Amino acid sequence: MATMTSMPPSSPSSPLASQSLSAPTRQASNLPLRTIPGSHGWPLVGPISDRLDYFWFQGPDTFFRSRMEKYKSSVFRTNVPPSFPFFLGVNPRVIAVLDCNSFAHLFDMEVVEKRDVLVGDFMPSTAYTGNTRVCAYLDTIEPKHAQLKNFALDILKRGSRVWVDELQANLDKFFDTIESEISKDGNSSFISHLQTFLFYFLSKSLVGADPALDPGVADSGPLSINLWLGLQLLPTVPLLAFQPLVEIFLHSYTYPFVLISGGYRKLYSFIEHHGKEVVQHGEKEFGLSKSDTIHNLIFILGFNAYGGFSIFLPTLLGTIASDKNGLQARLRDEVRRVCGSSTGLRFDSVKDMELVNSVVYETLRLNPPVQLQYARARKDFQLTSHDSTFDIKKGELLCGYQPLAMRDGNVFEEPESFKPDRFVGKGKELLDYLFWSNGQQTGSPTESNKQCAAKDYVTLSASLIVAHMYRRYDSISGDASRITAIEKAK
Ligand code: HEM
Repeated sequence: MATMTSMPPSSPSSPLASQSLSAPTRQASNLPLRTIPGSHGWPLVGPISDRLDYFWFQGPDTFFRSRMEKYKSSVFRTNVPPSFPFFLGVNPRVIAVLDCNSFAHLFDMEVVEKRDVLVGDFMPSTAYTGNTRVCAYLDTIEPKHAQLKNFALDILKRGSRVWVDELQANLDKFFDTIESEISKDGNSSFISHLQTFLFYFLSKSLVGADPALDPGVADSGPLSINLWLGLQLLPTVPLLAFQPLVEIFLHSYTYPFVLISGGYRKLYSFIEHHGKEVVQHGEKEFGLSKSDTIHNLIFILGFNAYGGFSIFLPTLLGTIASDKNGLQARLRDEVRRVCGSSTGLRFDSVKDMELVNSVVYETLRLNPPVQLQYARARKDFQLTSHDSTFDIKKGELLCGYQPLAMRDGNVFEEPESFKPDRFVGKGKELLDYLFWSNGQQTGSPTESNKQCAAKDYVTLSASLIVAHMYRRYDSISGDASRITAIEKAK
């Protein structure tokens, strides 16, 4: 069981960052007991007013920040969408947890459960996942969670033989495309190229299947996954433009799976025929049925891996490509110093690139790709923030908005600033408080917790991408969606 619920309190003027840190451990709190501030409002009126604030008038950041200021508390009651009028079965009531201490309770499987709360009380129809509840929706006490989590951990281990090679081979194709677009058009909008790179690299590394061999997905695979993700998640995704049309037409209904069933069937057939070895491994070694194995592989490939990297990598590339403070020269120097005259990059070589790794961590801190995490109280327990203790009742839903927890001034110095060296040297102690993977960056994903199975693969792969980039280029310019110039390595 995870054993983290509370961290040592500290005052905003003396961030933990400047003290000697110890990993957070469960400890009895002597902080004052406070009634949870905030309210869920009048029935129907409260949820709809909070929904409009969240999706339209304020957006998630101001929504949570303004309430935190109003209640002078990083723990408070509120509603989150989707809700009234068409989501009658969905309970919008949550307790927001917005500092590192209170947020960490979301990982403590002794006091919380994670059954069907991946995106809150709302759960997309299981039609999107072959009428089965895939790993991410299972609680740790459900025996199938251990089976599927171990399968996920195992395919990563098996895939690690080809992971680094596939990553670099497909990355080179990605950069070739960008170079040719820049020389033709003067810039390259790279998102669709990035998604093609991800689909090919991840299919080969995780499922052992080559999309190029299957005309059903070779060109359309990324689009099918985008639609599949979009349709199931639309009721929860903030879209501040085109209001009130978005509220009326996009946020008020669930969308039937039939709209994407053709594309999903092709993904299923792709994995069934081209990923046979991995599928048989799931059946023989993990006791899974063939269809359970394939539906879980589609979810891991499409939702967890492709979805996660599709959000994270543009932010990482944009952060680096738009820097005006000499960061690129420092990254390039570190990469070339550590690599020396060696020809290839491996995970072991990037482990020694302190600045590269720190930039990856800092990007994940300021822009956690999965912004909201939920967990339901398994029993009555006391939750602590930095300054108070709160009584939580069994069944209440905790909602962590990670962009605010990761800007906790009690933990991170100058929390709003991008500090490339934050996690270098002694700064590595702050990895106890980096939560993008639904757990500490110093933790380990296991069958007993709900931490991302690929916690280390994600950060090492991101570092490897940065390192690969500076072996190929002296510098790149652009933002999170476009590369406007590149200078080849001299
Ligand atoms: C940048 C990329 C990624 C991000 C941001 C990410 C993020 C996350 C997060 C936040 C969770 C926990 C969700 C929750 O319960 O609230 C999670 C779970 C999970 N992730 Fe990742 N992930 C990424 C890549 C991957 C990859 C490459 C794999 C491939 C195996 C993977 C496999 C999983 C699995 C299997 C779970 C469910 C864990 C469980 O149920 O115990 N993820 N991921």
